[in-house]
Amino acid sequence: MKSKLILAVIGFFAIYFSFAQSLDHAPLKAHHLRTEYLTNPKGITVTNPRFSWLIEGNGRNRSQLAYQILVSSSKKKLEEDQGNIWDSGKVSSHDTNQVVFAGDDLISNTDYFWKVKIWDESNQESEWSEPAHWSMGLLNFSDWHGQFISHDVGYDTTDKYDSLYLPPARYLRKSFQITKKVKRATVYSTALGLYELRLNGEKVGDDYFAPGWTDYNERLYYQTHDITNSIKQGDNAIGAVIADGWYAGYLGYALLVRLDKVREFYGVNPSFMGQLHIQYEDGTEEVLATDSTWKSNEGPIREADILMGEKYDARLEHSGWDTPGYDDQDWKTPKVYTYPDGKLEAHPGSLIKNIERLKPVKMTEPEPGTYVFDLGKNFAGIAELKVEGPAGTEVRLRFGEILKRDGNIQTENLRLARATDTYILKGEGVEVWQPKFTYHGFQYVEVTGYPGKPSLDAITGIVLSSIKTDASAFKTSNEMNNTLYENIKTTQAANFFDIPTDCPQRDERLGWTGDAQTYMRSATYNADVSAFMTKFLVDLDDAQRWYGAYPNFAPFPYSRPNQYSPAWMDAGIIIPYNMYKVYNDKRILEFMYKGMEKFMEFQADASTDFIRPGGGNNWGDWLAVDEETSKGYIGASFYGYDAKLMAEIAEVLGRTQDAQKYRTLFDNIKKAFSEKYILPNGRTTEDTQTTYALALYFDLFPENLAEKGAARLAEKIEKNNFKFSTGFLGTKHVMLALSKYGYHDLTYKLFKQTEYPSWGYSVENGSTSIWERWNSYTKNDAENSDLNAKMNSFSHYAFGSVAEWMFLHAAGIDTEDGGYRNIRIKPVISKQVDFINGSYKSINGTIASSWKWQGNKVLMTVKIPVNTKAKVHIPIEKVSDLREGNKKIAKVPSIKVVASTEKEAVLEIGSGTYSFSFTYAP
Ligand code: BGC
Repeated sequence: MKSKLILAVIGFFAIYFSFAQSLDHAPLKAHHLRTEYLTNPKGITVTNPRFSWLIEGNGRNRSQLAYQILVSSSKKKLEEDQGNIWDSGKVSSHDTNQVVFAGDDLISNTDYFWKVKIWDESNQESEWSEPAHWSMGLLNFSDWHGQFISHDVGYDTTDKYDSLYLPPARYLRKSFQITKKVKRATVYSTALGLYELRLNGEKVGDDYFAPGWTDYNERLYYQTHDITNSIKQGDNAIGAVIADGWYAGYLGYALLVRLDKVREFYGVNPSFMGQLHIQYEDGTEEVLATDSTWKSNEGPIREADILMGEKYDARLEHSGWDTPGYDDQDWKTPKVYTYPDGKLEAHPGSLIKNIERLKPVKMTEPEPGTYVFDLGKNFAGIAELKVEGPAGTEVRLRFGEILKRDGNIQTENLRLARATDTYILKGEGVEVWQPKFTYHGFQYVEVTGYPGKPSLDAITGIVLSSIKTDASAFKTSNEMNNTLYENIKTTQAANFFDIPTDCPQRDERLGWTGDAQTYMRSATYNADVSAFMTKFLVDLDDAQRWYGAYPNFAPFPYSRPNQYSPAWMDAGIIIPYNMYKVYNDKRILEFMYKGMEKFMEFQADASTDFIRPGGGNNWGDWLAVDEETSKGYIGASFYGYDAKLMAEIAEVLGRTQDAQKYRTLFDNIKKAFSEKYILPNGRTTEDTQTTYALALYFDLFPENLAEKGAARLAEKIEKNNFKFSTGFLGTKHVMLALSKYGYHDLTYKLFKQTEYPSWGYSVENGSTSIWERWNSYTKNDAENSDLNAKMNSFSHYAFGSVAEWMFLHAAGIDTEDGGYRNIRIKPVISKQVDFINGSYKSINGTIASSWKWQGNKVLMTVKIPVNTKAKVHIPIEKVSDLREGNKKIAKVPSIKVVASTEKEAVLEIGSGTYSFSFTYAP
């Protein structure tokens, strides 16, 4: 009896283990297929698109040995496994991204379908993935038949400096008939200006601010929409509403500083161009393009400007204008414009969408009839208004980031951005309205003129952004830092608005390059910015000055000479470098390479004995407090950093000679730099926090003095009561340099600091966002009333660049090569916090790294995605003390110890989840 029972138990375990084994070895699964970084994109113009996928799989050390991709011309062919456009065959490769299509020539206005299968480490074949698709846009100039059309609204010649010129939006429409069965209908559209496309009474697509901001003289992006299901048999109507936008409206600070132009930087009249391609079931095709047979008019949108706001008079609505059967007899013939000089291309980035709807958390009435809605956080977007009342009632919305003492919104910091929306009621029941062509940076909406007392749902916050900040998670025991992380993401979303803007509220909103470069790596942790930054790099490349410098912001609409600055212009190298590092993107390096070389020549030219001077309009360590780092120092150090990155970039591109050239240049710069700026005692000549941070992080300290330099930086921070004296450039580098040299407790003290200047100071003051200045706001309003009236944004992502340190060091998630295939897990462990939990969705899958104290021991959990390897750095004295689960490390076959010193053991692991416990060796 007993032996039977034992046998049964053994049998059970045998079955259990073999089941567990087979689970471990179940074939891998490819999912999340993307083309050119986008999921099922429509109308791309890249003729050799790149594919990527992620892999799921149980167990440890799983990897992809080979893949096969099929690309078909129809869904059906793909289902039947016919790769008639491309069958890659079984390709032995670990690659899961940047895999370049190598099939037949791709054809304009055509759909493609693809799938992938993979083989695992033991050559087990997976199932085919779910199908993905993309379509090619219009590839040739001869494909375009549309004309650029608009409605003539006249032109106001009054002085543009002292009164605003805000022309009405233009409306365009066309009725058309469909009499045969439609197989595929696609609409291609763009505008010089902004447009919203309408079909049969509805908005086409869900994006805002199309076609996006480019240097319209260089290129103009178009959008592609599949409208097969929205088109009807019989009568149809298509229409567009267009407004000035970036093309013709007020831009940046031009009005504030009274530039030679204040608006109309690219052109005066916004115009629209589009065409509908209809393929019928019977094999025939038809193209319906914009031309003078369309009809045009003005309408209810009386003013529409990005900075100034929108005015809508609902009494002037042309009811049903975008639906079939509308009588457009009294509409006019549109004005036809010539084609712009710029190329027509598909938007390569991610378009602006409504990513969240916010309900107000509170409404107050600081003055009779003035209602202030609090939307709970400081974001970019618009307010949707719900109202009921008599026709002609004028409701005005104004926007603010903070409140004044008296409860009214503060608008002084918007400078000359009027940021006011007006809605005039038609008086027909409940009216719901959203502006189309303006946006604001705000938390509070002031409503005046409302008929009666509004209820809380009279306002809804429409959050707009080009990105979703869902690529990472971060949690620690110090609650303030968790709020800080949320604030960083909120502010990134608010400013990743077709381009990375400095701020979303005042008369600026420009793609400042210094902000973008300093924040680039942080941006990648918080969101997938691969497509977004691809687009911005085109803007940056287009904006490069003829003499080689990258400008202060891109796109660069102003005709001002010498608009470049050290640490701003370096974005031209730092951003592409990070695109490689994070997304393994070599194509973008190739694309930028010529420009980068030219930029290096420009710098060499300006330098004397390898020291690049301050030059340009140099802002130094912008908004630093208490200490000033010289502009020369900033210029010289960034030149060194550029040379170092260029050497790596050239190497990655296989340009060995160039790599050697830039390595030599770096050595020369380093020598000259240390002779000029570093003293024999390891101090810098200027002795500011920023000088140490930059030189240490950029490797410009002579090797024998670096430890001393780091010690001096640490000493200075301690003497400054664990607070910064740094600005946009120094701040993140202080954190990175301290971590590089092992000052772990110190980094956490800075991270947790709540006294001014610190991140915690803004959180303690109730901020939901990242401020432009360390002291943007104090509870004592008198102290900063002057500041508020000037340059003071409460939504400026630059100081959020600590996210880089949070993931790179606190959680310790980094990549050794391009694109996280060889991962480094090296968290900075300190008694300053109880735990850190971090995770990041890399281009190779989700990486997680957490650690926590358990008495004097540390418990560390690491998750590594399939098809990657990681080196895990564990601060421990003796490897023999290290345990994985409850096993000694030597007993775990899936883990290799690759190095060990008295301070650290380095383990090599493959995919899977691991938990280590050990006694910490500081
Ligand atoms: C912007 C900054 C920018 C700076 C240059 C400011 O007006 O808001 O973010 O980098 O100018 O100094």
